Amino acid sequence: MQVKNKKCLVTGGAGFIGSHLTEELVSFGNEVSVIDDFSTGKHNLKLLTAAGVKIHESDITNISQIEPFFRDIDIIFHLAAMNRAQRGISDPLRCNEINVTGTLNCLKLAVDNSIDKFIFASSSSVYGSVTNNKLDEEMDLKPLNPYGVGKLSAEHYCRIFYEIFGLKTTILRYFSVYGPRQQGGIDHAGVIAKFINLSLAGRKLPIYGNGLQKRNFSYVKDVVDATILAAASDNLNGDVINIASEKEYSVLDVTNRIISETSSESEIDYQPPLAGDPSRNPANINKLKTVLNFSPKHPLNKGLKQTISSMLSRN
Ligand SMILES: NC(=O)c1ccc[n+]([C@@H]2O[C@H](COP(=O)([O-])OP(=O)(O)OC[C@H]3O[C@@H](n4cnc5c(N)ncnc54)[C@H](O)[C@@H]3O)[C@@H](O)[C@H]2O)c1
Repeated sequence: MQVKNKKCLVTGGAGFIGSHLTEELVSFGNEVSVIDDFSTGKHNLKLLTAAGVKIHESDITNISQIEPFFRDIDIIFHLAAMNRAQRGISDPLRCNEINVTGTLNCLKLAVDNSIDKFIFASSSSVYGSVTNNKLDEEMDLKPLNPYGVGKLSAEHYCRIFYEIFGLKTTILRYFSVYGPRQQGGIDHAGVIAKFINLSLAGRKLPIYGNGLQKRNFSYVKDVVDATILAAASDNLNGDVINIASEKEYSVLDVTNRIISETSSESEIDYQPPLAGDPSRNPANINKLKTVLNFSPKHPLNKGLKQTISSMLSRN
C-alpha cells in the first residue's frame, strides 16, 4: 500500500525524519508542502527545494500564521516538535508550547479544513522505563520527562479529535530513529549520529551511565516506510502503533560497533547518568507486523554501515 497522487503537508519536514518522509512522498507522485521554522537548521532546505517541495517557513505555535497552509490538503504528517528528552528538561515551557499547543493547532486546522487523515509522530518516551516487559500499545503509560508528557498529551488530543470530530488520526510511536542526515553536532544529538561524528574526528565518546541502557535503534528508511503504510491504511483510525526495529542493543554495544566500523581510535568517556533517561524501552512490534504487515528491513549492522558511509560522503 502506498500514498499516491495526494496533497500532503509535512510539519517538521525540514528535519531529519521529515526530510526523508518528504522525499519518499514526492517519489510516489504526491504534491508535498512543508511547514518548518528551521529551528534545528536549514541543512535540508536545498534538497527539499530541488525535489519541488513547497516550503512554508512558519511556527506551528502561531495558528493564524499557519492557517492558510492547511487549505486543500489530503493528508497531514505532523512531525514538527521540540525533539529529545533533554531539550524538554532544559525548557519545559517551550516544549509544551510546541509539542502540545502546536499539535492542538494542527489538529484544529485539520478539522476546520476537512482533512482526510492526520498522522502524528509520537515517541517511545510516552512509556516509562521497564525491566522485563516489552512495551505494547495497550499498557499503562508513565512518561519520565516533559517531552514524554507532551507527546502523551498530544496523543490524547489525537484520540479525542477522532472520537469527537471524526478526524482520522493515527499515532505512531517512533523508537530511537537513526540514519543518514541526522545531525550529530548539535546539542542533545541522537547517540548514533553524535558518536559517528566524534569517532570520525577521533574524539572522546561520552557515555552517560554504564552504557548498558538499551534501545531499539530504528533505521529511518524503515520508519518512513511504516509511516507511509500507516497513512495508506484504514485500519488505524483513532489508533496507536509502535514503529521500531525488532531488537534492542545497548549503547555500549553500539558505541563499540561505531568505533570498529569507523576504524577510530576514540575512547569512551563515562559520565554520570542523565535524569529522565530510561534504562530500557524494548518495543513490542506485533501490531506493526500484523496490522500493517510490515517488518523492518534494516538490522543494526546494515543501518550503521549506511549511516556511516553517508556521513563520510558528506565530509
Ligand atoms: N529521532 C528520533 O529518534 C525520534 C524518536 C521518537 C519520536 N520522534 C519524533 O519524530 C519527529 C521528527 O523527529 P526528527 O528526529 O526528525 O527531529 P528534527 O528535530 O530533526 O525535526 C523536527 C523539525 O521540526 C521543526 N520544528 C521545531 N519546532 C517547530 C515549530 N515550532 N514550528 C515549525 N517547525 C518546528 C524543526 O525545525 C525540525 O526541522 C518529532 O516529532 C520527534 O519528536 C523522533
